[in-house]
Amino acid sequence: MTNIIVAGAGTMGVVLARLFAQSGYPTTLWNRRESSLDRARETIARDLAAAKDRGDLTEPPEAVTGRIAFTRDFAPYETAGLVIENIAEDLAVKRDFWAKVSALVPGDALLATNTSGLRVSDVAQAVRGPGRFCGMHFWNPPDLMPLVEITKGAATTDETARAVHALALSLGKRPVIVKKDILGILGNRLQYAVLREALHILALGAAGPEEIDAAMKYGPGFRYSMMGPFETGDLGGLDILHAVSGYLFPDLGAEETSQVLADCAAAGRLGVKTGAGFYDYADGAGPEILARRNELLRAQWELLKDKPIRP
Ligand SMILES: NC(=O)c1ccc[n+]([C@@H]2O[C@H](COP(=O)([O-])OP(=O)(O)OC[C@H]3O[C@@H](n4cnc5c(N)ncnc54)[C@H](O)[C@@H]3O)[C@@H](O)[C@H]2O)c1
Repeated sequence: MTNIIVAGAGTMGVVLARLFAQSGYPTTLWNRRESSLDRARETIARDLAAAKDRGDLTEPPEAVTGRIAFTRDFAPYETAGLVIENIAEDLAVKRDFWAKVSALVPGDALLATNTSGLRVSDVAQAVRGPGRFCGMHFWNPPDLMPLVEITKGAATTDETARAVHALALSLGKRPVIVKKDILGILGNRLQYAVLREALHILALGAAGPEEIDAAMKYGPGFRYSMMGPFETGDLGGLDILHAVSGYLFPDLGAEETSQVLADCAAAGRLGVKTGAGFYDYADGAGPEILARRNELLRAQWELLKDKPIRP
């Protein structure tokens, strides 16, 4: 696979361009505005310098940046091997982009969207040759999170899904192919099921955010990075799961909206980015916590990456 084009130089695109280049791929970072490309150059240079300081680079940073072209031009699409689109999460915007780009790329190019919430099939309606188009959903930060969800839309061929899966493996990721175009794909469905229950417990007044977070981190969450719910179930015994789910499922929260989240959003309590959410982040504590999270994600991956729970 050559000529990777990462479209959109926002939060995801900038890191993905570096990730592809660090994995040896000639990469083009495309963005419609020059100002974002300038910021992308700076961010990538800074992140590579930090990686070098940590001893995480096997080559000089300039060798990696030498594989990245930054452009606003559409001409590179004409020789693309893979286009991964990371532009605004808006169906009309994505369709406009794909209508134009899918008419430019070679017939055998692979096309993927990093959409978090839109249905792949809905975006695919604008794609010329939708068989070669799929979802390729990275988690943020995409250099540190191992999961990539490859979603098949109604028209996506098995061959496309397999090729994108192989590409994700070559980035050191742990990709999964999702056969149906379901909202939230896999990870967000699981994550939001937990979030809904956490908000439900809060509303019951049984515990506060500190206790609920501790219960997750030191209870189920502690083992979730090495075992999924089915692996956990097999170890615990499915007779126990059957008995407990019989009384617990009917008691779990089933709210369709959350008043707590609505109130926080209305009050501008958005979390780290506004200095307060469920907790306070006074005096710029947020960036420090984010850096610490990244450091811990790196350490956790070092520890777990070659140790699957099942052989
Ligand atoms: N941020 C995350 O946590 C995350 C995680 C996984 C997937 N995603 C998905 O990745 C995609 C990008 O998210 P992001 O967080 O990087 O967004 P972002 O807002 O940081 O960047 C969006 C980019 O889209 C470009 N853009 C906006 N309108 C455009 C248009 N009309 N034509 C061309 N380019 C346009 C902007 O210039 C910008 O570079 C979205 O689909 C999002 O759902 C985001």
